[in-house]
Amino acid sequence: MANVTVIGAQWGDEGKGKIVDWLASRADVVVRFQGGHNAGHTLVIDGKTYKLSLLPSGIVSGTLSVIGNGVVLDPWALRDEVAKVEGQGVSITDENLAVADNCPLILPLHRDLDALRETAAGKGKIGTTGRGIGPAYEDKVGRRAIRVCDLAHLDTLEPQLDRLCAHHDALRAGFGQPPVDRAALLEELREIAPFVLKFAQPVWKRLKKVRRAGAKILFEGAQGVLLDVDHGTYPFVTSSNTVSGTAASGSGLGPNSTGYVLGIVKAYTTRVGSGPFPTELEDDIGQRLGTRGHEFGTVTGRKRRVGWFDAVLVRQSCAISGVTGIALTKIDVLDGLDQVAICTGYRLHGKVYDYLPSHAADQAACEPIYEEMDGWHESTAGARSYADLPANAIKYIQRIQELIECPVALVSTSPERDDTILMRDPFVD
Ligand code: GDP
Ligand code: IMO
Ligand code: MG
Repeated sequence: MANVTVIGAQWGDEGKGKIVDWLASRADVVVRFQGGHNAGHTLVIDGKTYKLSLLPSGIVSGTLSVIGNGVVLDPWALRDEVAKVEGQGVSITDENLAVADNCPLILPLHRDLDALRETAAGKGKIGTTGRGIGPAYEDKVGRRAIRVCDLAHLDTLEPQLDRLCAHHDALRAGFGQPPVDRAALLEELREIAPFVLKFAQPVWKRLKKVRRAGAKILFEGAQGVLLDVDHGTYPFVTSSNTVSGTAASGSGLGPNSTGYVLGIVKAYTTRVGSGPFPTELEDDIGQRLGTRGHEFGTVTGRKRRVGWFDAVLVRQSCAISGVTGIALTKIDVLDGLDQVAICTGYRLHGKVYDYLPSHAADQAACEPIYEEMDGWHESTAGARSYADLPANAIKYIQRIQELIECPVALVSTSPERDDTILMRDPFVD
C-alpha cells in the first residue's frame, strides 16, 4: 500500500502531528484535507517544539506539503503561521507548500459570527475554538464563500460580496451588530492576496502527477472521528467530516487513494469543549493524567477534560473510518498507576450497549462499564522497542487491541519524534 491516511479516532489531540511528522520521512507528500486552524498539532524534534495549525506536519521535515480543497483557509492565519515556523528555521516556499485554489476562505466576519453565536448560546454553547470554522463551512455549502482563486479576481468580486453580505448583514443585525464593512474587507483581501496566490494551484492536478510518478502520499487528518459532523457527538462536533473518506474528496483524489488508514488513539481519553464524555474522570486520577499528559489545548490553551480509555468509542470510530491499524500514543502517561480501567460497554436505561447511541441525551446518560487491570510502575517513557515495555503495559495494549478489533501498528512513548515503536509499517503493510 503506497499511501497512508492518518486520522484521529477520539475527540482530537491524540498525537496526530507527532505521528505524521514521524511518518513524513517515508512519504513524498503530506496533505491536509479538512478542518482549518482549529487544529493544533505539536511536534517535538530534538527538544525543539513546533506547533502547527494549518500547515501540514510534513513541512518541518521538508516534505512537500499540500493544503487541500477540503480545508477552510484563514489567509491571515496562514501568513502568521508561515512567519512563525520560518522563524524556527524551517524554509517555506512555493516548492514545498501548495494551497488548493478552490479552498474556501475564513474571513473576519466568520470569526465574528462564531463568537456571537457562542456567546448567545449560553449553556448550550459548543465550546468552539472561536476560529470561524463553522460559519466558513456554512458559507461553502451555502455557495456564498470567497475562495482562494477569487483572490486573483478581486476587481469582479462585487456580485459575490452582494450574496455574502446579504446573508451576513441579516445575521449580524439579529445580534445587534453593524453590517459588514465591505470596503475594509476588500482592502484586507487585496493586501493578503499576493501572499496566498504564491502557493495557490489546482492541487488535484499536482497530486495526480506525483501519484502517477509513484509518490507516497500521507494524508493528515485534523480533529477526530467523534468530532465528525455526521458520526460524532452531534451537535458537539466540528463542522467538517473528519473520517478517512474525506481524504479523497478533500484533496481531489479518488477513494482508492487513501491506502492504509492509521487511526491515532490516545492510551486514555481527552476532550476539549462541551459535550458528552462517558469515561470522564473528575477525581485525582483525572488530575494526575491531565498534569502528566500536559493536557492543555494547543490552540486555545483550554484545559482538556480527561478520562479512562473508552474501547466502545474507539471500536466505533475504527469501524466508521475503516481503520486498518492504530498508533497508540501517550502510554507513558499511565506509568505509575496501581490500576487502570478500560470501558467495555455502557449501561443506559437498564440495557447494556456496545455502541454509543446517536441522541445527545442518551450519550450524556451512558454509564460506563469498566474492566480493571493491574497497572505498571516501571517507566515506558522513551521506550523504542516493544521488548522494553513492562509486561502489564503489554497486556494493556493487547487488551485494547482485542476490544477495538483492530491491530496496533505503532506505539508512542513520549512527545519526541523518535520515541516511537514500530510494529507494522503502514507504508508497507
Ligand atoms: P494532535 O492534535 O492529534 O496532533 O495532538 P496534539 O499535538 O494537540 O496533542 C498531543 C500532545 O501530546 C502534544 O503535546 C504532543 O507533543 C504530546 N505527545 C504525543 N505523543 C506523545 C506520547 O507518546 N507521550 C507523551 N507523553 N506525549 C505525547
Ligand atoms: P486537533 O487537530 C480537539 C473541538 C472544539 C469544539 C468543537 C468545535 O488538534 O485534534 P470548532 O472550532 O471546530 O467549530 O469547534 O471541536 N475541536 C477540537 N478538539 N482537537 C482539535 O483539533 C479540535 N478542533 C476542534 O474544542 O469542542
Ligand atoms: Mg491538537
